[in-house]
Amino acid sequence: MSHRIRKPVLAGNWKMNKGPGDATAFFAAFLNAYRRDENRTVMFFPPALSLAAAQAAIAERGDIMLGVQNIHWEENGAFTGEISAAIAAQANATCVLAGHSERRHIFGETDEEVGRKCAAALAAGLTPIACAGETLEQREAGQLSEILLRQLDAVMDAIPDDADDRLVVAYEPVWAIGTGVNATPADAAEAHGVLRARLAERYGRRQAGAIPILYGGSVKPGNAADLLAADGVDGLLVGGASLEPLAFAKIASA
Ligand code: PGA
Repeated sequence: MSHRIRKPVLAGNWKMNKGPGDATAFFAAFLNAYRRDENRTVMFFPPALSLAAAQAAIAERGDIMLGVQNIHWEENGAFTGEISAAIAAQANATCVLAGHSERRHIFGETDEEVGRKCAAALAAGLTPIACAGETLEQREAGQLSEILLRQLDAVMDAIPDDADDRLVVAYEPVWAIGTGVNATPADAAEAHGVLRARLAERYGRRQAGAIPILYGGSVKPGNAADLLAADGVDGLLVGGASLEPLAFAKIASA
């Protein structure tokens, strides 16, 4: 894919919200409110069925990328209800979320499956946004690093060694997602440091520095700038606040 990702990356994950008509209405308002900036990347992850409407709405906007929220790792076949990376690519997605905590915790996705999804995405020319994050219990048990590294290792072990320039990572503490309790900039900096150090062990310092690591979890217009300014935070992955065009336009400009 020719899409170059520029940091910061401001990504909206709509989850199971907004059909095609809602997507059209959202972009009419969002594009009005958000000033194009070639030095950052804005991404949206609508429901797959709303991808075409989103694509039509942003046709003129090279600064905005579209992705899907999940894929199956197989290319095609008898997997009722699933979509593959190739299908997503044919529908003009250029990126895909992998291992979002809702996929892991509600749908039982394993580290190994997340790795396979990242590999499938890369093979189809999509950029995977590999999500990692600890639960509150794990954090309180002092397992932050252990959990993050286990989840990141599973991805790095599954993808080709030379895919480092097409990988995006997201730190999403489970306790901060949809709760209104965001990680502090210091919390985010610590976790991003853990992830970045592991990326550096595998790919070298320089390349690790180029891999965007996004923070996600209760990002709002009021905390976006502070989180984005935290050490090692290269972007934001936004759920709830990405559903509202004016709120997300503010975050995307933070
Ligand atoms: P939230 O979700 O912004 O609603 O907390 C973040 C996410 O799940 O990516």
